[in-house]
Amino acid sequence: MFLSCHFQLLVLSLSYIPNSSAQSLDDSTTDPTKRAESALSTLQSWYNGDTGIWDTAGWWNAANIMTMVGNLAKADSDNEGLQSLVTRVFANTMTQAPSKNPQPGVEEFAYRRQVLNPSNEASALYDGSHMGSGYTKILVSATNEPLSIYPQNWTQSKRKHANNGEFINTSAPRRRTTQTTLASTPDPKPWLDGFYDDDLWWALAWINAYDITSNTEYLYLAQGIFIAVTSVWPSHCNNGGIYWSWKKTYVNAVSNELFMSVAAHLANRANSRDQKEIYVQWAERTLTWFQNSGMINAHGTINDGLTDACENNHQTTWSYNQGIILGALVELHRATPDPSYLSLAAKIAKAALQELTDQNGVIHDVCEPNCGGDGTQFKGVFMRNLQTLQAAAPDDDYVAVIQANADSIWMNDWDEGQEGAFSVDWAGPFVWWANASTHGSAMDALVAAMAVG
Ligand SMILES: *[C@@H]1O[C@H](CO)[C@@H](O)[C@H](O)[C@H]1NC(C)=O
Ligand SMILES: *[C@@H]1O[C@H](CO)[C@@H](O)[C@H](O)[C@H]1NC(C)=O
Ligand SMILES: *[C@@H]1O[C@H](CO)[C@@H](O)[C@H](O)[C@H]1NC(C)=O
Repeated sequence: MFLSCHFQLLVLSLSYIPNSSAQSLDDSTTDPTKRAESALSTLQSWYNGDTGIWDTAGWWNAANIMTMVGNLAKADSDNEGLQSLVTRVFANTMTQAPSKNPQPGVEEFAYRRQVLNPSNEASALYDGSHMGSGYTKILVSATNEPLSIYPQNWTQSKRKHANNGEFINTSAPRRRTTQTTLASTPDPKPWLDGFYDDDLWWALAWINAYDITSNTEYLYLAQGIFIAVTSVWPSHCNNGGIYWSWKKTYVNAVSNELFMSVAAHLANRANSRDQKEIYVQWAERTLTWFQNSGMINAHGTINDGLTDACENNHQTTWSYNQGIILGALVELHRATPDPSYLSLAAKIAKAALQELTDQNGVIHDVCEPNCGGDGTQFKGVFMRNLQTLQAAAPDDDYVAVIQANADSIWMNDWDEGQEGAFSVDWAGPFVWWANASTHGSAMDALVAAMAVG
């Protein structure tokens, strides 16, 4: 049961859940807002004020967790304590998180080399292994699951949780955003790590933070990240697309879907018609390239990437690759209404539900129950974007799936031994251990259920 004896839960419940001093939540709790608020208190026990990210989750995972927390704030907009908490989390993460970038500076190196030798073969150009920090991503095991490998000392924190109190005590005074902060244009470089999916996850997280706070610093950062990534277009495949990383080898779905999504999001937040047009063109160009790339298979789902010969590699249809594109298409449709965008999104969503759900409508990735630190994050991305599609093009099937997943997480995916934390298999039983990645991902489903409820 989700009892309030968990220390962090108690502190948070007292401070920001209205009229619930000693709240005890259990299976009978059906209110999606109460469920999500309770889960947030567990999540924040992992938030490290010094690093600005959540302990036990990776670097790019933190961008996703921040996006989810932002969506919770959007769905629970009357909760002032929560608004204040997320505002402080954004401000703190903005200043602290770059210290945890696992590979800063590497993209600048890649870019300089590109400018010097514009006509060379990519493989010859980017053999700069000595430039790397050791941070890399590989595809592992029978399922070719993406896995981020961090530099050896990456997980060490400087001073663990030294000022975490600020992020769990919402009666503390709110940090005010000054005019100076608003006017500054942050440097995107500290957020770039040579893996373009990571860069773009952070861009999406900061766009969401901008939506909530109206702090243009966050929007400018997202624009800067996007513009930096445009410098790696095109890949060697079909004169378009971007690579997974600065090493310029693998062309995959996640990076290109994210590229399209960030462009479309920025189009809707542009401050002039010209600026909007540039972002719309990037999004449309990427979509056209993506549809011609062959990554969308005959079933309508999306495989992991392309072979060296630029053909669908038929690798696993991970849930997040069925999700990111839904949000991208919804934003693109908002920027430049074209019914084909929403019908494509619906086609992919329906195909994904067909392929990824079990008999109870609960979605799974094939790495379960032994997903790595990356695979644990995927399903939340799908749920978040399915909810975005539901808001733009409602369908009862989406609502049913979102609610089935949230219910299953709440009923089946917990254990008294790790109270309040959700693990990787949403159908249960609980897989030891849950961490900020599994929990934050499950929270995406709880937050989606709030939004459709
Ligand atoms: C990790 O270790 C390397 C080499 O000892 C050092 O240069 C780097 O600053 C360390 N990084 C962190 C985050 O402590
Ligand atoms: C929370 O913040 C308020 C206002 O700054 C302070 O008075 C109070 O002692 C804090 N409580 C905790 C538990 O830190
Ligand atoms: C988080 O949990 C997943 C699943 O158990 C695990 O693969 C991953 O290594 C964990 N991350 C950390 C940093 O412990």
